[in-house]
Amino acid sequence: MTPFDARDPATLRPRLPSPLRPVGDERFARRGVTLLLKRDDLIHPELAGNKWRKLAPNLRAASDAGRDTLLTFGGAYSNHLRATAAAGRLLGFATVGVVRGDELAGRPLNPSLAQCAADGMRLRFMDRATYRRTSDPAVVAAVLDGAGLAPGSVHVVPEGGSNALAVRGCVDLGRELRGAAGTVAVACGTGGTLAGLAAGLGPDQRALGFPVLRGGFLGREIQDLQRAAFGGPAGAWSLDDRFHFGGFARTPPALNAFAEDFEDRHGLPVERLYVAKMLYGLTALAEEGAFPPGSSVAAVVTGPPEPSGPGPFRP
Ligand SMILES: Cc1ncc(COP(=O)(O)O)c(C=O)c1O
Repeated sequence: MTPFDARDPATLRPRLPSPLRPVGDERFARRGVTLLLKRDDLIHPELAGNKWRKLAPNLRAASDAGRDTLLTFGGAYSNHLRATAAAGRLLGFATVGVVRGDELAGRPLNPSLAQCAADGMRLRFMDRATYRRTSDPAVVAAVLDGAGLAPGSVHVVPEGGSNALAVRGCVDLGRELRGAAGTVAVACGTGGTLAGLAAGLGPDQRALGFPVLRGGFLGREIQDLQRAAFGGPAGAWSLDDRFHFGGFARTPPALNAFAEDFEDRHGLPVERLYVAKMLYGLTALAEEGAFPPGSSVAAVVTGPPEPSGPGPFRP
């Protein structure tokens, strides 16, 4: 065993394939439709859901290349930053997190960043104008230089974790769902999870994405992600832009009421910023009669709720 084998994410014993279970929901049953839940939130207690799917290939690539440090980017409440910090602690990588907003420097850390720091992540705060250019290699080079890191020792993961490796990591999610349902629903932030999921599904299946951000720009970004990961379009997918509830981190009372009711009906905790919006949209579509009688739809539970609760402050 080389020293880097210890950094193989498989040593963390992920629960894969993740469980897939039908649930009885009268809003679907009334239309003759079966609802299945794909419980990616159960893959690993600290690297759950799409965090596992997207980070694991990056961790493997870093390990294979002998890189001992992970560098990534995120907002002050980023789930991706926290997952990267946890992965570093669990697998023995040093981690550096570049946080959007230099006004945060010197202020007490919020609970999310405090958790990153407790997991050993070195935090660097960046002004918002520069942060918008973090895909520019010159900006990354300046960060590495400022942190005293040699480029050859560092594996860089973009904001949200959606690079080509991550998209390819999400192909397995689609493969696990082959033959299970005609439509597979997933919440979208960067669209990386959908880009990979669609590529892994069978020819008679389609992925249906529910963007949680306003803007309508995501389709182009998913095409770009698929081009980077697969060289061109892959699989059938579409987006329904009607269920962002006002934009990222907006969780109005109607959404919370829906999520609480879903939790009561089906006995699983519903993450509010992404999963609740997808489940709401999927249920609305079922009630509109969008799915043929006799068909099945699968909803991907891409993550568990935050330990600190839904909270309104998630930039
Ligand atoms: C729970 C959850 N679901 C879905 C997503 C969206 O994933 P993506 O950015 O790949 O579209 C995220 C964001 O990372 C997330 O935290």
